[in-house]
This record gives sequence, structure tokens and C-alpha cells, in this order.
Amino acid sequence: MFRSLYGRLAAVLMGVFVAVGGLMIVASQTMFEPERLQTVLEPNLLLELATYLIVGAVAFSLLAALIVFRFLTRRLRTLCESIEVFRDGGFSAPLQLAGNGGGDEIDMLAAVFAEMSERIVCQLEALAQVDARRRELLANVSHDLRTPLASMQGYLETLLLKDGSLTPEERRSYLQVATRHCERLGKLVRDLFELTRLEAHEIRPQPERFPLAELVQDVAQKFELQARKAGQHLVTEIAPEVPMVLADIGMIERVLENLIENAMRYTPAEGTIRVTLQADGGAAVRLGVSDTGKGIATNELANVFDRYYRVDRGEPGNAAHAGLGLAITRRIVELHAGTIRAESTPGQGTRFVVELPAAPAVSPG
Ligand SMILES: Nc1ncnc2c1ncn2[C@@H]1O[C@H](COP(=O)(O)OP(=O)(O)OP(=O)(O)O)[C@@H](O)[C@H]1O
Ligand SMILES: [Mg+2]
Repeated sequence: MFRSLYGRLAAVLMGVFVAVGGLMIVASQTMFEPERLQTVLEPNLLLELATYLIVGAVAFSLLAALIVFRFLTRRLRTLCESIEVFRDGGFSAPLQLAGNGGGDEIDMLAAVFAEMSERIVCQLEALAQVDARRRELLANVSHDLRTPLASMQGYLETLLLKDGSLTPEERRSYLQVATRHCERLGKLVRDLFELTRLEAHEIRPQPERFPLAELVQDVAQKFELQARKAGQHLVTEIAPEVPMVLADIGMIERVLENLIENAMRYTPAEGTIRVTLQADGGAAVRLGVSDTGKGIATNELANVFDRYYRVDRGEPGNAAHAGLGLAITRRIVELHAGTIRAESTPGQGTRFVVELPAAPAVSPG
């Protein structure tokens, strides 16, 4: 009972009441003692004594009330001051409130304010991060759009200016370069558009029940020729009895393409790209895409799924790649309630592992 402020106030008032009441009883007993009554015949003196008694009691109660209110307002004032410090500090550090440990209403209020301030600080930090990422994104987008656009413009202008003096081969070569830049621009805009729509939940998976093994074979086959041309070995290892998945075929195909395309790009000739598929405890399937390429440094691993993140930003060979593939891949996997992670040993290779839930069993009949 004495933990709450109400309880304490009641106890203090009760104490005051008992003290004043006791005092009055003792005083009136003393006043009305028979010997005193005999000696003190003066009625005015009796009245005077009673007045003193009442005034004393009132003064005592007032004093007690003042002490209680001072105690109360002091704690409230401290709370207000802390909130003002929090506000003036730009909401940058959470409130540090030391309660008196009693757990009364003011302590509870302080605890609520402290929790609220922590949330405000967290949310402001998250907002600042989003803002920084948005600015970086804008800078990257404008950079990546500008480069192919400028090249395209350059080649087309040259074509226009020197049209008469160019040989058919030169003209063809200029047009080929301009077309390449145009394709690059198209891919970038498409990827960016797709990622934005995925993140805004505008594209929803159209789930179908299908065997992932077949899709893995199909996609691997699509890359077969390209791998052979690059002198790479593309191997698929599919375990028997992998459960079906309930997923959007087009989206999962995109995941596989992104992972295999990356693996091939970062693996030298004679390297191996291995696509594996196995059951993961009956309730999930595990898809792996590993390569024997250059690998990713440990401190970069967590970032490769961020949109626009490229470990080798600036390398001319990768100018056509904006760093959106893995961001799109992760978003698709998340939309399917799956997980994706990357493991890598720099210099030896990288492995991406996707885990997708298996399709629920169909009851016979
Ligand atoms: N298999 C891999 N081996 C080494 N590095 C990789 C591998 N896969 C991805 N990375 C690194 O992660 C970065 C991000 O990959 P992501 O697929 O998102 O972008 P990208 O391939 O550069 O561009 P995009 O996919 O948009 O064409 C790559 O730029 C590369 O630095
Ligand atoms: Mg990629």
C-alpha cells in the first residue's frame, strides 16, 4: 500500500490527523482538569487556550501539507527539467531518469517517459539512416544513369557529325556501342523499377506448387553455353526426394539467374559454379549456388544484399552492373518467407544459400 503515492499521502495525512487529534485530546484534558477548573475561573483564559489550540492544529496541518506538496512538486519539477534537456538536446540521447526506487506513480511516469524517449531516439536514428541511404541511392542512380547516357549521346552525336566521313564498319561499331549503353540503361531502369515495386509490395508472388529441381535444371541449362564459352564448369547437384515448393516460378527463376550470373562473373576460366538442391529437414528446401571465384571479404558480406552495393564499384568490367541483383533476390526470398545468406572465403570462392519453405503436403483425395 505504501508503494503508491496515494498510499503514502494517505498515511501522512492519517499521521497528521492522529497527531493533531491526540494533541487536542491531551490539551483539552489538561484544560478541563477539576483542579484547573477550580483555579482557573477566568472563562476568557479558557477561550484563549482553546483558540491557541485550534490555531496550532491548523498551522501544524498546513506545515505538513506544505512539506508533502514540496516533496511532490520537487520530483515533478526534476522530471520536467529532464524532459526539457531531452528536447533541447535535439532528442539525441534518451532520458536518464533516476526514480526513487519506490515504484510510485511518479516513478511509473518517469519510466514511461524514459521508454518513450528511447523509442524517439531509435526512430530518429532509423529515419536519419533512411535519409542517408536515400541520398546515397539518388547519388548512385544519377551517377549510373549519367554514364551510359553521356556515352550514348557522345557516340550518336559523332555519328551525326561525321556521318559522311565514316566507313560502314565505323558506323556499325558506333551504333553497337550506343546500343550496348542503351541496353545497360534499360536493365538499370528495369531493375530499379522492379526493386521499388517489390519493396512497395506492388508485386505479389503468384504461388504455384512445383518441383524446384526442374527449374534449377532449366535455368542451369540456359547458362550452360555461356559458361562453356567462358571456360567454366557449371555443375548441378540435385538430391533425390526434394519436397515441392509453393512459390512464384518467375520470381524464383530470377533468384537463380541473379545468383548464377554473379557466380559466373566473379569466377575465372576453369573455375566451377555449383548449383545444389537438397531437402532441409522435410519442412524446407535448401538451394546453394557456390563458385570458386575471388570471394567476398568478411566485412563486405553483410552489405552485398543492400541495394546499390558493389564491392568492386568503379571496376570498368562491371560498369553494366548497378548492384541491384542481390537486393532484388533477397526481397523475393523474403516475400516467400525464406532466408538467404552468403558465406565466402576470399580467394577461394563464395556460396549463397537460399532456404525456402516446402509446400504443405496435399491430403490424398
Ligand atoms: N559470387 C560472387 N563472388 C564475388 N562477389 C560477389 C558475388 N556475388 C555478388 N558479389 C558482390 O556483391 C555485389 C552485389 O551483387 P549484386 O548482384 O547485387 O550486384 P551486381 O551483380 O554488381 O549488379 P546487378 O546484379 O544489378 O547487375 C557485387 O557487385 C559483387 O561485388
Ligand atoms: Mg548481380
